[in-house]
Amino acid sequence: MKIAVLPGDGIGPEIVAQAVRVLEALQSDGLPIELENGLIGGCAVDATGEPYPEATHRLASQADAVLLGAVGGPKYDSLPRQQRPEKGLLAIRKALNLFANLRPAILYPELANASSLKFDVVAGLDILIVRELTGDIYFGEPRGIETRDGQRVGFNTMIYSESEIKRIAHVAFQAASKRQGKLCSVDKMNVLECTQLWRDVVIEVAKDYPDVALSHMLVDNAAMQLVRNPKQFDVIVTGNMFGDILSDEASMLTGSIGMLPSASLDQSNKGLYEPIHGSAPDIAGKDIANPLATILSVAMMMRYTFNHEESAKRIEQAIKKVLVSGRRTKDIAESNSSLGSVVGTRAMGDAVLSVL
Ligand code: IPM
Ligand code: MG
Repeated sequence: MKIAVLPGDGIGPEIVAQAVRVLEALQSDGLPIELENGLIGGCAVDATGEPYPEATHRLASQADAVLLGAVGGPKYDSLPRQQRPEKGLLAIRKALNLFANLRPAILYPELANASSLKFDVVAGLDILIVRELTGDIYFGEPRGIETRDGQRVGFNTMIYSESEIKRIAHVAFQAASKRQGKLCSVDKMNVLECTQLWRDVVIEVAKDYPDVALSHMLVDNAAMQLVRNPKQFDVIVTGNMFGDILSDEASMLTGSIGMLPSASLDQSNKGLYEPIHGSAPDIAGKDIANPLATILSVAMMMRYTFNHEESAKRIEQAIKKVLVSGRRTKDIAESNSSLGSVVGTRAMGDAVLSVL
């Protein structure tokens, strides 16, 4: 189990440190885990001038899985686009062909009151967003800012090929068939040709999955339905940009963006695992960030890349127990909770490890 560890920027190093402790615990219980650290994002720019240096690419290519914290910070906002930390993240996703991004949004009953929605609306919530991750307007060419007729114009290209839509559709149908058998494909076919093709291809792929009930929803309606009645969804499949937006929205249903892990997989289940939240520079270095999304990402790694369901469950159960015990980082604490139960990043790691 060769794992490349890329802590990145902001709170990245703090939350990844706790996830690494969990990996080390599994290692001392006998799993053949090998860890090696690398640079990505702003820290890589500082050290090498590039957000995704060649050495990191070599490390990540040779590993079976990558554990990533987060990238970016205000310090880098004025750099040219090619040197922005976010470019490092996009580059590793593209270079490793990690086209399938799985973002589960599960509400832990103990956190129901941390959600801004009413208890009944979110209780028992368990949805999976399958986001296409290496295409769409994120990567489409041409792109840029240039002067036309004496004024600046900015432009990007939304583009999907049939084969890109097919392969992500297969991932989503397979996931749905292992869950409640419901798949909702999200597009904007009333306006965008690119997503008309998306819908057409998803309908074609559906023929291979007669047991999955397929529905379609326009993205504006999907954004609304996610807060109106999120439990109507089982699996959602959508493109890169819509998936970026809807997964942040879905995370708040669960109480905090600090709870959502993700897996980004290639065709052979090699994967990159990261929390869906960003580098949160405003709270970096303060020992208050929630490490649970990153630790849950390790559980996903055990499940999807290493086929080690037992370890995945063990980690998830440990987190459940910690939440039942009342311990909370600041982001998931209820405003009336007693001070004693609010813990820092490292203490939350301690709590998970002691149960584990
Ligand atoms: C995410 C993030 C990234 C994205 C950024 C940091 C480039 O928002 O993983 O959702 O837009 O994909
Ligand atoms: Mg995002």
